Amino acid sequence: TTRRKLIAGNWKMNGLKADGIALAKGIADKLASASPDCDLLVCPPFTLIAPVADAVAGSRLAVGGQDCHAKTSGAHTGDTSPAMLADLGCKYAIVGHSERRTDHAETDSVVKAKAAAALAAGLVAIVCIGETLAQRDAGQTIEVNRSQINGSLPEGANAANTVIAYEPVWAIGTGRVATPAQAQEVHAAIRAELVKLIGAAEAGKMRILYGGSMKPDNARELLALPDVDGGLIGGAALKVADFWAIAESC
Ligand code: G3H
Repeated sequence: TTRRKLIAGNWKMNGLKADGIALAKGIADKLASASPDCDLLVCPPFTLIAPVADAVAGSRLAVGGQDCHAKTSGAHTGDTSPAMLADLGCKYAIVGHSERRTDHAETDSVVKAKAAAALAAGLVAIVCIGETLAQRDAGQTIEVNRSQINGSLPEGANAANTVIAYEPVWAIGTGRVATPAQAQEVHAAIRAELVKLIGAAEAGKMRILYGGSMKPDNARELLALPDVDGGLIGGAALKVADFWAIAESC
């Protein structure tokens, strides 16, 4: 495959200033003397984006936001626009994480608008999809992921500006990771849907990350799957050693 893997750390609502800077610096320091076969990204909480971006400036560690608003500016108390993220040096924005879909009732159309805004600001959108356990048990896994990708992928999405993250909701933060067969089945189905939406050439180049209890001890077999092009890491992204071990599994 020609797809370069992406290992992305989603710190979620974790970290105060000193910890966040130390974590990001720890990863950037390792990158200064080693080159794992992947791109590396950290997505700190909004409060830490500026200090983290400053701390890793000039390194090969990219910084991104965990969410963004669909507009550039305006009367939206508490929100953060993609232009603001780009202004701080962010290269990516995660949109549609299942925790946003659940905690903030974000629908596919909201996610699609946020992704479109991210692209317009020059960011790479990481569009998250994934089924719940009830949906999997009901045999709806492929259908749900197909429907979410159709509803959430923005106009103009291509392999350079968009990354998909498949995160089975039942695997997030549970320690219950998808088996390699489960992951590959859904990743292949997502890519087949992408072929219909954006054509075979872009679909073949677009990265599809797996997320959900990816850890140093299971990363290697997941990252070796034909349609798994990286990871979106939660818990294991909060320790330099764990995040680095996953990067080295590429
Ligand atoms: O965005 C990251 C995912 O939700 C995975 O989180 O690695 O803690 O299961 P986790």
